[in-house]
Order: sequence, then C-alpha cells, then structure tokens
Amino acid sequence: MPPKLSIIILESDDIAKNGITAVLNSFNGSIGKISAVANFQEVVSSIQADEAQIVFLEVQELEQGVRETAFLVARFPHSTVIATAAEQSSHWILPLIRAGAGEYLTKPISEAELTAAIHKVIRLHRGRNGSVSAKGSVLSVYNPSGGMGTTTIAVNLAASLAALGENVVLVDLNLWSGDVTTFLDLAPRYTLSTIAARAGEVDATFLRSVMVTHSSGVQVLCGPPDLREADRIQPEQLREVVALLRSIFTYTIIDTGGQLFGCNLATFDSSDLILFVTQLNLPALNNAKRYLAAMGNEGLGSDKVRLILNRYNSKDAIKVSDGERVLTAKAYLTVPNGDQEVTAAINEGAPLVTRAPRSPVATALKELAGRITAERRGGK
Ligand SMILES: Nc1ncnc2c1ncn2[C@@H]1O[C@H](COP(=O)(O)OP(=O)(O)OP(=O)(O)O)[C@@H](O)[C@H]1O
Ligand SMILES: [Mg+2]
Repeated sequence: MPPKLSIIILESDDIAKNGITAVLNSFNGSIGKISAVANFQEVVSSIQADEAQIVFLEVQELEQGVRETAFLVARFPHSTVIATAAEQSSHWILPLIRAGAGEYLTKPISEAELTAAIHKVIRLHRGRNGSVSAKGSVLSVYNPSGGMGTTTIAVNLAASLAALGENVVLVDLNLWSGDVTTFLDLAPRYTLSTIAARAGEVDATFLRSVMVTHSSGVQVLCGPPDLREADRIQPEQLREVVALLRSIFTYTIIDTGGQLFGCNLATFDSSDLILFVTQLNLPALNNAKRYLAAMGNEGLGSDKVRLILNRYNSKDAIKVSDGERVLTAKAYLTVPNGDQEVTAAINEGAPLVTRAPRSPVATALKELAGRITAERRGGK
C-alpha cells in the first residue's frame, strides 16, 4: 500500500475548511493526517513536522499568494500547493499556477472539482513514492542536425503527460540554439547556466527555484540565452542535474540536438529512453543511419533508442517500411505532417496538444504520451 498523504489546510472561512475536510475524509484509504493551521508561518512549520504532501493555501491577496506559493514550491519540492481563492479570473489563476501551484480552486469550492484535484495529486504522489517506482523516467528527444521536429515532439509530449496528471519537467538542452522558451512563450529569469554557476551546490530546492511553471502544468528548465554561458555547462553537472530531476519528477523530458559527445552523451547515458526523431527523406535518413550507428557504438542501442518518423505523409515516395529497412529499426511512432496547425501553435507559443487537441499531429503525440506511461507502468 502506498503511504498515506498528510495534508495541511490554511483556510479562514469555516464553511470552506469544513467542506475540504469532509471531502478529504471520504478518501480514507489514501489520506492520513489532516492539520488545519491559522497562518502561513504555521503552514511552513507543519510541512516540516508532518512532511506534508498537500497544502491548501488560501489566497486573499494575489501578490502575497504568488510569493507564498513560490516559496513553498521552492522550499518543499515534494509538496503540492492547492491554491484556493474567491476569484475566478485568469489574472489570478495563471500567476499562481506559474508560481508552482499544482491546482487552483475557486470558492465556493465544488465537491466534484475538489475530488478531481485530490485524485490528481494522489496519482502524482503514487507515481513519485508509491508502488510503481520511486524513481522517475528520463527521456531525451534527439536529432543531431535539427529541423526534424525534436522540440515539437518534446514540448507536446511533456504537455500531454502533464494533462494526464503526471509530474513533468521539460529541459531545453539545445544549449546553442534552444527554442523551448519560444514554443511555450516563456520568459525565464533563470536557466541551466544558473545551475552551471552553482556547481556542486545544486539541490532539489535550488533546481525548483530556477524552473518556470508553464500553464500546462509542465515545469520548464530553460536553456541559456547567452552563447558564452552555454560553453560553461559541463557534462558532470548535467549528470548531477538529471539525477536530481529523476528524484523529483515522474517524467523528465529533455530536448536535445547537436553532436554526439560531451553534454549530449552524458544526458543519453542518464536517459532511460532516447526518442530519435527523423523524417522519410533521403538526406534525413542518411544522417539518421550514420548517427544511429554511432550511438550504437556508444552503447546506445535498440534497447534504449526509439525511432520516431515525423511529418509522415502516406503519399510520399519513401514509405515507412523503406525507412525501417534503411535504418534497420522499427518505427516506434509516425507523426503525420500538419503544417498549418503546427506552425500556428508555435507562433502562438502554446503546445499543439492544448491548442488543437483533436488535430492528427496532436493525436499522435498524445498517443506517444499514452505509450510512454504504459511502458513505465509495465516496468519496461
Ligand atoms: N509533424 C509536423 N508537421 C508539420 N510541421 C512540423 C511537424 N513537426 C515539426 N514541424 C515543423 O518543422 C520545423 C522544425 O520543428 P522543430 O523546431 O520542432 O524541430 P527541431 O528539430 O527542434 O529543430 P531545431 O533544429 O530548430 O531545434 C518547425 O517549423 C515546425 O513547424
Ligand atoms: Mg529545437
């Protein structure tokens, strides 16, 4: 049996507090201690004392709520903050979610919404600590020469996993040409280079503090904006960072590109799976063939590498079976070509799976997320 969750409630409105407690009590198998506290200082001391996994944080004043949420998320990365407030507007919801709140509930809190939120957090903590595995999965998405769709796949895989209620971090490791920030319309204050400057002192709290929370729920560790900073990041630091991310997140998705050495090799060694993205045209296949062989020589073989054929069109002259023959590898997934919707999503800075969830490309990428979670559950 997974351990029971401890919960802290900061709520001055007795009706809301009693409502939350009543719903929590109906989860008797999963919920352990429930503590109602009177102020933020008591929240902090109770999380420490009870190692609480969920904090209901009443937000009466937005700026203060954002500050308190960010503080809790940075200080207690294993706890989930559920912000509660009387406001329904996105002007309140987004800043709190960006500050790291796992959920936002509007008062009066609906029983159904509260139940759904608690189910989500229970799933998240089971994935983290429970019977499935205490360690998260690390997946790198790679093509050495770029332009094949690795960022599209990494961003949408991460967003799809988050939509399934998973605890996900997306790392932009395209150190010299990262574009995750553009794809997700983020303006990070800190990036991977902040971590490089703190070699040897990186811990979960610090890592949390340099991430940005995207509205999809994905935590994002952005690439350095300055090319000189990219040079300073060392493979050993990356190993350290990936190991920490694995201990915090159920899924770490790393968008990579460039040559097969240094930081990339360290990342691939630390990955459970490498999703190698290519397309069904001759230059792309030739390049893929060379790199898959080189990866094999580095011990990154078919047990770890999955082939994704992007921008697939059944009318193209080169068929999936041709690609598989050339690469001597089975395609794990084909993603259809969807020019308009993919470009529109990038230009809007929103994941396609959120913006156009029924489009064929989004459908394929959600299927990818489904397969990845099934593989993890199956222990593969
Ligand atoms: N399935 C798809 N259908 C249509 N267009 C796509 C698809 N996947 C990616 N693209 C387009 O291909 C281009 C490259 O995609 P993306 O930026 O994801 O690739 P990348 O491998 O990360 O490239 P880079 O080398 O710039 O990092 C983008 O303009 C994107 O719109
Ligand atoms: Mg890219």
